[in-house]
Amino acid sequence: MTDNIVKIRGLNKTFIRKTLITRHVEYIYAARNVNLDIPRDSFYGLVGETGSGKTTLGKLILRLIEPDSGSIIFDGIDVTRLSQREIRRIRPMFQVIFQNPQSALNPKQRVKQLIGNPIRFQKKLDSKSVEKEVFRLLDEVQLSAEMAEYFPHQLSGGQIQRVEIARALGLKPKLLVADEPVTSLDASIRGHILNLLLQLKKNREFTVLFIGHDLHIMEKMCDILSVMYKGEIVESGSVKQIFNAPTHKYTKKLVSMRYISD
Ligand SMILES: Nc1ncnc2c1ncn2[C@@H]1O[C@H](COP(=O)(O)OP(=O)(O)OP(=O)(O)O)[C@@H](O)[C@H]1O
Ligand SMILES: [Mg+2]
Repeated sequence: MTDNIVKIRGLNKTFIRKTLITRHVEYIYAARNVNLDIPRDSFYGLVGETGSGKTTLGKLILRLIEPDSGSIIFDGIDVTRLSQREIRRIRPMFQVIFQNPQSALNPKQRVKQLIGNPIRFQKKLDSKSVEKEVFRLLDEVQLSAEMAEYFPHQLSGGQIQRVEIARALGLKPKLLVADEPVTSLDASIRGHILNLLLQLKKNREFTVLFIGHDLHIMEKMCDILSVMYKGEIVESGSVKQIFNAPTHKYTKKLVSMRYISD
């Protein structure tokens, strides 16, 4: 039997949008009866066109937003039933890196604080141990030790994303949600960040939910893929399976476009 770190059943999330002038109400079905099993220690890809609900699903798993119905079992715990207080307690277990890390980082903090503060807070370590851990993490994400003193505005986009990764991994998460982590980066450094993620994944035990829409990247990174379309998971399977025998019309289109751009 496969050991799944995340098990989602019947998950629904609808957003209601009111247009300002006409007051017309629009329902957006961002998650529709989503069922998903993410095997422990896998590199799991979630692909789909813009607005298909990928980020929403990531946020639901992290309990950053509340579902309308359904269950999310994370490492044996139904997180949909936990209070906000209980969620805060288990939050270090799931971490996220976003598309625009710049906006996620406090511009007034130095790198050593950005990486060190969450560790200090969650792990209750003394300053010396935190500092040691910060330098170890900087080394792990291939940033030089002197960058500990830098502020975010002194770093390039790629370096900022490395800081974000170090910050997330410092808490030793069981699940890392990487929501389009290289989309906003210059094409020339995307490969470096992706390789770093693969390298880290080899050296540590954690599961990655990798959100994206570039099939080339998905193929390089992921073991398993799910395809989202208008809030629904329309197919799931090994990367090979999806590429060789796509069944849904959107996946077929994606795969055929991939051959054109080859
Ligand atoms: N807080 C919100 N309020 C209202 N609508 C929302 C909210 N968050 C997301 N949506 C809508 O839900 C749908 C799914 O959004 P989501 O961000 O999950 O898509 P996505 O697949 O991540 O898209 P992209 O590839 O562009 O990042 C979209 O139509 C979006 O506009
Ligand atoms: Mg998104």
